[in-house]
Amino acid sequence: MTESAIQIIHQNIHQRQSIGQLVEPAPSTEQLELAFQAALTAPDHHRLKPTRFVVVSGEQRGAFGEVLAKALADLGETDPAQLERVKQHPFRAPLLILALTQLQDHPKVPHFEQILSTGAAVQNLLLSLQAQGFSTMWRSGAVVESNWLKQHLGLQPRDLISGIIYVGTAAKVIAPRADIESKEFVKVWQA
Ligand SMILES: Cc1cc2nc3c(=O)[nH]c(=O)nc-3n(C[C@H](O)[C@H](O)[C@H](O)COP(=O)(O)O)c2cc1C
Repeated sequence: MTESAIQIIHQNIHQRQSIGQLVEPAPSTEQLELAFQAALTAPDHHRLKPTRFVVVSGEQRGAFGEVLAKALADLGETDPAQLERVKQHPFRAPLLILALTQLQDHPKVPHFEQILSTGAAVQNLLLSLQAQGFSTMWRSGAVVESNWLKQHLGLQPRDLISGIIYVGTAAKVIAPRADIESKEFVKVWQA
């Protein structure tokens, strides 16, 4: 890899920042496919492929909002204002991607490794979308705990809704990420 290619890759990683205000355009089918190809190369012990993605397109956001309200009600929420509020959540971006972890029982691959694998897949997804000019926000919220929602998505109660990724184009320019002092987080082991 050339020096400039290395620099570009690191710039893409370093400049990724979550953006809450997302507008059209959303990625095309081809652009999404590129991102899913990147996501699905994430490290994955014994290649169990525990990660699934579900795309909620712009036209489906209203219907998905109703599903989120049912999920919140499933968790015991009765306040009509909260239920109405969650119905609007999908409209925070032109497209949503749910990242799911479908856990498998394997003697050498504990569940936590499979969850981490989904985390790595999501990061690849975010970086691919960022490289293609889009912005994202990885969210969760109470709804990810709803067994009703898990069942609706084809999951077992033990599986995870690991993220609701909001995808679109940044509505405004934000300040670049501050420099990171790696010394605070990294040390060299010595015997
Ligand atoms: C699994 C997961 C769930 C998250 N859920 C939320 C959320 O529900 N709401 C939120 O504001 N940020 C959430 N975040 C944090 C943001 O995605 C983001 O990483 C954080 O605001 C830091 O910003 P940055 O990505 O620009 O560094 C979540 C992050 C992860 C990894």
